Amino acid sequence: MRVPMIAGNWKMNTTVSEATALVNEMRRGLDEITNVDKVICPPFVSLAVVRELIKGSSIKLGAQNIYFEEMGAYTGEISPLMLADLCEFVIIGHSERRQYFNETGEIVNKKIQAALRVGLKPILCIGERLEENEAGRTEEVVTEQLRSSLAGIDYLSGLIIAYEPVWAIGTGKAATGKQSNETIGLIRQNIAELYDKEIAQGVCILYGGSVTAANAAEFVQQPEIDGALVGGASLKADQFLSIVKQTSEIRGRLSG
Ligand code: PGA
Repeated sequence: MRVPMIAGNWKMNTTVSEATALVNEMRRGLDEITNVDKVICPPFVSLAVVRELIKGSSIKLGAQNIYFEEMGAYTGEISPLMLADLCEFVIIGHSERRQYFNETGEIVNKKIQAALRVGLKPILCIGERLEENEAGRTEEVVTEQLRSSLAGIDYLSGLIIAYEPVWAIGTGKAATGKQSNETIGLIRQNIAELYDKEIAQGVCILYGGSVTAANAAEFVQQPEIDGALVGGASLKADQFLSIVKQTSEIRGRLSG
């Protein structure tokens, strides 16, 4: 049985002191829930501080991006080695990076390889845009993104996938549990074809896009969906905590 995960992507929000306050507000509540992996992904500049704040707790830490070279003259970039020293996870290929920073499938692939090489667990984001969804191309787009992201990678240890339909991100218009369960089932089937069935059954696959405390249950009760990547609602301690709690209860019920 896969362990469910709720990951919070804080995006470009919170100063160091705001990040500190937010962690202090949710640390105890999150720590008490043990049957869900809880990951928070603050901005780079707060990673070291947050790492100290959650030390000794069951909360895990992730970054939001990575560069694929390990060191050198790449002004402003953050390398896999630097992150491996600070956190366990890294979000890769988020649609905002694809859209605003021209991240191509090839770059995403290099970043996944770089993360795996140093033992970081990538949270690979894939998902179709609105026009692709409306044209009935979801399956084709998601399959292509998955295959190009994983090209040449024969070892998936620790890889997490987040299915995030681009039209659902930050719009308040989440997909339905049923739709996302189907697409995530398809992603799992693709992994079984690329690797094998056992590996596919072990991969944690999240839904992301306008998940809130009000709709989280709809997703986490689906058999193929292992949790959520949460943006906006992860910046509110009570919302994020409620999402984690609901996941814990639903999963507890389903497995017991
Ligand atoms: P959202 O963002 O929850 O604010 O829609 C999700 C994400 O971008 O990961």
